Amino acid sequence: MSSQNQGETTEAQLAVHWKEEELIQPPPSFIAQANVADPGIFERFSEKNFPECYHEYANLLDWYKPWTKTLDTSNPPFWKWFVGGELNVCYNCVDRHLATNRNKTALHFVPEPEQEPIQHVTYQELWVRVNEFAALLRDVCGLKKGDRVTLHLPMTAELPITMLACARLGVIHSQVFSGFSGQACGERIADSQSRVLITMDAYYRGGKLLDHKKLADIAVDKSKDEGVVPEKVLIWQRYPGKYSSETPLIPGRDFIINELLPDLRGRRVEPEHMGSTDPLFLMYTSGSTGRPKACQHSTGGYLAYVTGTSKYIQDIHPEDVYWCMADIGWITGHSYIVYGPLALGASSVVYEGVPTFPDAGRPWRIAEDLGVNIFHTSPTAIRALRRAGEDLPLKYNHHFKHMTTVGEPIEPAVWHWYYDVIGKKEAVIVDTWWQTETGGFLCSTVPALQAMKPGSGGPGIPGIYPVIFDDEGNELPAGSGKAGNICIRNPWPGLMQTIWGDPDRMVRVYFDRYCKNPNSKDWRDWPYVAGDGAVFAADGYFRILGRIDDVINVAGHRLGTKELESAALNVPEVAEAAAIPVPDELKGRVPELYVSLKPGYKASPELSQRIAQALSDTIGPIARPKNVWIVPDMPKTRSGKIMRRVLTAISTKSNTGDITTLANPDVVEEIRKTVQG
Ligand code: WT7
Repeated sequence: MSSQNQGETTEAQLAVHWKEEELIQPPPSFIAQANVADPGIFERFSEKNFPECYHEYANLLDWYKPWTKTLDTSNPPFWKWFVGGELNVCYNCVDRHLATNRNKTALHFVPEPEQEPIQHVTYQELWVRVNEFAALLRDVCGLKKGDRVTLHLPMTAELPITMLACARLGVIHSQVFSGFSGQACGERIADSQSRVLITMDAYYRGGKLLDHKKLADIAVDKSKDEGVVPEKVLIWQRYPGKYSSETPLIPGRDFIINELLPDLRGRRVEPEHMGSTDPLFLMYTSGSTGRPKACQHSTGGYLAYVTGTSKYIQDIHPEDVYWCMADIGWITGHSYIVYGPLALGASSVVYEGVPTFPDAGRPWRIAEDLGVNIFHTSPTAIRALRRAGEDLPLKYNHHFKHMTTVGEPIEPAVWHWYYDVIGKKEAVIVDTWWQTETGGFLCSTVPALQAMKPGSGGPGIPGIYPVIFDDEGNELPAGSGKAGNICIRNPWPGLMQTIWGDPDRMVRVYFDRYCKNPNSKDWRDWPYVAGDGAVFAADGYFRILGRIDDVINVAGHRLGTKELESAALNVPEVAEAAAIPVPDELKGRVPELYVSLKPGYKASPELSQRIAQALSDTIGPIARPKNVWIVPDMPKTRSGKIMRRVLTAISTKSNTGDITTLANPDVVEEIRKTVQG
C-alpha cells in the first residue's frame, strides 16, 4: 500500500504544522457526574490485564450463554472475541430496557421541516415496531440468519428500526449512505449478494423533498448488470399512507412496507440466539485500490466495544439525551447513534436534514427543545456552523456536558470556538480518532481523567496500545517530533472480522506491512496498520495528520482516488484522470480532478461540467470535484506513472520539486498556466 505512494505528496506532508497546544482541564461539573472518574481504569486496562480487561465491556451486555474464551488468536489476524458466547443485539438495545424504561424515549426523530412535529419513539413503541417489521422480513420475505440485505435509507426512525429488526433475526444489514448514488448502492447489493433492498420513497434535505425511490431502480439495474438480482425492494413511506415518489412500483418486486404492516399488527418475533462471532453488519468504505470494500463487523465483540466506549468515552448515562449529528449511513452512526447509545438505554436523536437548515441556529433549537446534553459532530459541521454565525449559539439556552469531534483533524481555532461558543466552556470535549474498520474509538482522552488538547486526539483509550512506526519499521518514540504511520499493537473487540468476500485483502491492507513473522500466532507480531500519518507527542497524545494511502478524506468521509478516477474514465472523451486532495476551508479536503482527453476532443466548460457530474452520479454528490482541469497531458515518470505530487503542488500553488526526471517535464508549465492563469 505504501510502496506505490513513495515520492508522492501525502496528506501528512500537506498537513499544517500546528504548534503544541496547552492542556485544558475538564470542567469540575463534568467530573462530578462522569461514568469514569477513577484512574484505576488505566491499571485495569493495562497490557498485563489484556485481553481479560474487556470483560468489563462484555459484562455491560446480557448474554444468553456466557463465552468460554475471551480471545482466540489461533488464526491471525482473524481474531475472535468472546468465543462460545451467545447474545442478540436487538434484545440488548431494546427488549432489556422494557422492564424499567418502557415509557422512555429511545429515538427522537427530528424531521427537517421545522413545522413538522418531532416524533418521540419510546422503548415500548420501538419494540413493537421492530417486532412487526422483523415479522415482515421473516414471514413475507423469507429472510433468515446469515442472509444479507442492503439498506439505502435516509435519516428517519425507520433506519434504526430496520437495522434492529435485521439484528433480531440475525440478518446481516449493509446500510449504504443515502447520499450515495443508485449505482454505488447497486454495486454494494451485488458485492454483498443481498436478497432484498430496503429503501424509502423520499426524504427532506436542504428544504427539498428528494425522490429517493428512483435511486432504487438504478441500484437494482446496476446490481443485475453485475449478476445479482434482488428478490424484493421494500419501500418505507416518508409520510405513511402517501407514496411520495414519481417512479412506478414494479409488480412482484416493489412493496410498500406501510401497506404490509397492518397485517402484521401485534406480531412478536423471538430474538435469534446469535453466536458472538456471527456477523452483525457490513459497512463499505473506500480504500487505495478499486472498489469500496465491506468491513464485516461481529455481534458480541462489536456490541461490547461500542457499548463500553459509549459509556466510558461518550459518558452516556441512561438519563442522557444524546445527539450525534453524523449520518447512520456511516460507521459513526451505526456505533454511536444506534448500537452504543441504545444498548445503554439512552435517548438518541435522529435528525433528518442539514445542520444549517433553515439557518445555523437549528441545531441549538433542537438541543434546547429536547434537552440534549451530549453533542457529537465533525469538524466540517463545526466549521460550517461557525461561518454562519460566530455568536449565534450563545443566543440559545442549550447546555452540553460533553461534546465530541470526529472524522478529521480539527484546527485549534475551530476547536476553541467549539469549546467557547457551542460548549459555553461548560462541556468537556473528546476528539475521537478511529475508522470504519475499527468499529469504535481508538484514540481519545478519557473525559474526566485526562486533559483536553486542542487539535490532538489524545492517547490510546484504555485497552488500546498505539505505536508509530517509520517507513523502515522502527518505532518512533514519544516526543520524537517525527511523523510516522500509526498502528495499534493489540487486537480489540471492535475490530472488523474480515473484508467481506476477500479475506486476503484484510491481511494485505491492514497487517502485512509491519508483521515480522506471518506464521506467528502471537498477537504481538500483528500490528494493525491504520493508514494514517500521526505524530506522538512527549505527553503521550497523538496528533493525526491524515491518510497515507490514496484516500481523500472529504468532510470526514473517505473517497478513494481510484474510485473518482474510474468514474471520470466513463466519460467517453476522457483518456486519463488523476484525483488529488486540495485543502478546503469548510470540508478540510476536497478532490480536484485532472483529465487529459482522447485525440480529436477539445476542452470546454461544458465538458468539465459533464465530468464533474459523472463523479456525482456514479458515487454521490460528496464526490463532486472542486475543479476539473482539462490538461494536454499528465506529468509522468519515465515508466508512465502519473505524478500526482506534481499536480497537487500546482493545485495548491506550492513547489513542484524536482521535475527534471519526468518523461515530459515541459507539460508542467503548461498545466500551471491552465490552473493558475
Ligand atoms: C479516517 C477514517 C471515525 C469515524 C468516521 C470516519 C480520519 C477519523 C479522526 C480524528 C483526525 C480522523 C482518519 C481515519 N479521522 N477521526 N478524530 N482526527 N482524523 O470513518 O470514513 O472510516 O475514516 O478518518 O484519516 O483514517 P472513516
